[in-house]
Amino acid sequence: MKPNLDWKNLSFEYIRTNCNIRYQFANGAWGEMQKSTSDHIDMHMAATCLHYGQECFEGLKAFRGKDEKIRIFRLDENAKRINESAREIFMPPIPEKIFQEAVLNAVKLNQEFVPPYKSGASLYIRPLLIGTGPRVGLNPADEYLFIVFVNPVGPYFKNGFKPISLLIDRDHDRAAPLGVGHVKVGGNYAASLQSMEKAHTGGYDSVLFLDPKEKKYIDECGPANFFAIKGKTYVTPESKSILPSITNKSLMTLAEEMGLKVERRRIELSELEEFDEVGACGTAAVIGPVGKIVDEKMEKTYEYCQNGNPGLISTELYNIYRGIQVGEEEDKFGWVTVVD
Ligand code: PLP
Ligand code: COI
Repeated sequence: MKPNLDWKNLSFEYIRTNCNIRYQFANGAWGEMQKSTSDHIDMHMAATCLHYGQECFEGLKAFRGKDEKIRIFRLDENAKRINESAREIFMPPIPEKIFQEAVLNAVKLNQEFVPPYKSGASLYIRPLLIGTGPRVGLNPADEYLFIVFVNPVGPYFKNGFKPISLLIDRDHDRAAPLGVGHVKVGGNYAASLQSMEKAHTGGYDSVLFLDPKEKKYIDECGPANFFAIKGKTYVTPESKSILPSITNKSLMTLAEEMGLKVERRRIELSELEEFDEVGACGTAAVIGPVGKIVDEKMEKTYEYCQNGNPGLISTELYNIYRGIQVGEEEDKFGWVTVVD
């Protein structure tokens, strides 16, 4: 049955769908796939995910094309990255076959929730791995649960591909210099909530974090990576405390294709003066073209998008990237899995 949703006005919030997919890990092995229609988990109160943060997740999207086909973007990259996160906090790896089977089934069994072509919405896919086994002493669990649920979503930034504002927060770090900022574990997000709240209360869309060691370099950009365009160069931070974004990786490939030079390096804060265009990129955010960055403590404001529009290069990157996702641009790099 077609869900009765206002596709053009979806926000980025939970919506109940038909079912989710689950796998349990116990006695050193992954069990069989289970389908669940519940959006709750029955779990031991001493589960390690609740006390000791044994939790990691992923985020990817499926799109409906003009041809009505459903395409999932870079499934293989997310399958790899969840295991980098799992390894970092001592959780068992998920075999790639299980990850793919879970995502494909979650999408197929909820295909009427994949928003229509050109609605501006997509199906967000959220794989989640948690320690469910009880521990009171600090040790990894011996039981785990892997879940994939899906959720139709609209644009992460409410105005879509329109300039956003960022606040530089010098009072909090989301990650430690040699911590777990480079993987997608829940603790990083909890640690960024203070900053995000401060930004939202101040009327900003997101936060620009500085490197946690010297406060000299640009680091993560809320739940997204930072990139900038300087002349004919695409620049993005090299840092041990940021998540290697799959969107950013894809944009770097597209930028090279467009004839831009790509630099992945440390970016000093003072360089914000020199950029022609700035963006935040991620699965949820896609590209958030940055119009303004404010460093309240230093009383400095950096402005981009002078005419109120995203820059030309960011716009071109956005159009090609979105075109590949919905099947309008050739999938030259094999990024898309068509669901049949
Ligand atoms: N950085 C953080 C902290 C994120 O949560 C995300 C979102 O996944 C990203 C960057 C962007 O990564 P990706 O493009 O793989 O979604
Ligand atoms: C994503 O882009 O997939 C994210 O994880 C962002 C999310 C924290 C809202």
